[in-house]
Amino acid sequence: MPKKELVIYHSATGNTEKIAKEIASQIDCDLLKINKNDNPTQGRVSIVVKIVKQIIQRNQFKTDLNNIDLSSYNRIYIGSPCWFYTYTPPIEQFLKTTDYHNNEVVFFLTHGGGPRKTIEKFKASMIDGKYIGYMDFENVNKMREEDIKKEVNNQLIHFKQ
Ligand SMILES: Cc1cc2nc3c(=O)[nH]c(=O)nc-3n(C[C@H](O)[C@H](O)[C@H](O)COP(=O)(O)O)c2cc1C
Repeated sequence: MPKKELVIYHSATGNTEKIAKEIASQIDCDLLKINKNDNPTQGRVSIVVKIVKQIIQRNQFKTDLNNIDLSSYNRIYIGSPCWFYTYTPPIEQFLKTTDYHNNEVVFFLTHGGGPRKTIEKFKASMIDGKYIGYMDFENVNKMREEDIKKEVNNQLIHFKQ
């Protein structure tokens, strides 16, 4: 039986979304966005207000995907933007509130060139699942569609089953 995979991500300004969609397209798997209402087309002020709220409410913040059932997936790719050297509050909430103990986990990060220890922090904060590696994408906003395809393909090679 083929192994079932899922790409799940948070994206405030669209970069992580581009990578998530490309990964899902290249491995032909399901795609799920955490907090679908965080939409880059909604205007700059509104995005900034949301980002600030999510950061301030870090510990009480709720995602719209709490307690989703991931038991049918063998592997999940979890994608986050880097915010102040760590993954975002929606990803933090997802890790705290979802049962992913049956899943292999690949983390993917988008950032502006200074992620510092975000990947190590993600790995350390996983409370379930089996971490098998990460993918790292810098300055996605400056990449052309073709570059995104190539870069995703280059990094995905290590994880293709
Ligand atoms: C509030 C905020 C904090 C950020 N902090 C960092 C950071 O610490 N290091 C970094 O390299 N990029 C940082 N960035 C840039 C984002 O990580 C980068 O643009 C990312 O691709 C955005 O993903 P998104 O478009 O999916 O939301 C930050 C962006 C925002 C909005």
